[in-house]
Amino acid sequence: MKLPPFRLERYFAKYEFTAPYMMCASDCESISTAELLAFEPDAEARLLGLGLGYTEANGGRELREAITGLYETVTVDEVLAHTGAGEAIFTYMNAALQPGDHAVVHAPGYQSLAEVARAAGAEVTAWRGDPANGWALDLDELEGSLTSSTRLVVINVPHNPTGFLPDRAFMERLAAMAEAHDFRIFSDEVYRGLEHDPADRLPAMVDLTPRATSLGVFVVTPT
Ligand SMILES: Cc1ncc(COP(=O)(O)O)c(C=O)c1O
Repeated sequence: MKLPPFRLERYFAKYEFTAPYMMCASDCESISTAELLAFEPDAEARLLGLGLGYTEANGGRELREAITGLYETVTVDEVLAHTGAGEAIFTYMNAALQPGDHAVVHAPGYQSLAEVARAAGAEVTAWRGDPANGWALDLDELEGSLTSSTRLVVINVPHNPTGFLPDRAFMERLAAMAEAHDFRIFSDEVYRGLEHDPADRLPAMVDLTPRATSLGVFVVTPT
């Protein structure tokens, strides 16, 4: 598989560790290992006691069990742990798409969501947010772009880079469309949990329809 250069990573390779001031990033401010371990009284001892051998290929069971706690309906065997969300995008697109399939992908957006789908052989249609309307996605427009070959719709909410955050009704209508038109949804939710107002937090797409997969990353929210 040949992928075009990942423009964001090329940019970071050049500037991330050399520019005197970091004015852009796609992650939030990180914490130290000591701060992380301070969240649980026995965490340091448990980390030091951890064996460094192989774990289960789909991720350690204890980790996957903890991840199910972030969702309403997900069982431990439905969780796949990866080394970063980028790896999960690669795995998913290659498992879900075949040459000749059609995929509709939220745009503009994180480059690999569209490029890996395309490299897996899919014909990709961009589903563009409207800059004049807070970068909102239009579900009627999506419906108009579906073909008999559409196997996958990809969204990223909360959205990088625009911050677009739809409402629950949007998620529910998209879930219903997936069932009516027989496509899958890949819902990149790596920024879920970072809403300014927790009341705006959307349900995970995976909890709304069995046709969806939700992608999350490790977010620590102090209580
Ligand atoms: C929307 C989105 N999805 C996926 C990723 C990939 O995340 P990771 O760095 O964990 O591979 C990023 C990273 O910035 C992102 O912005």
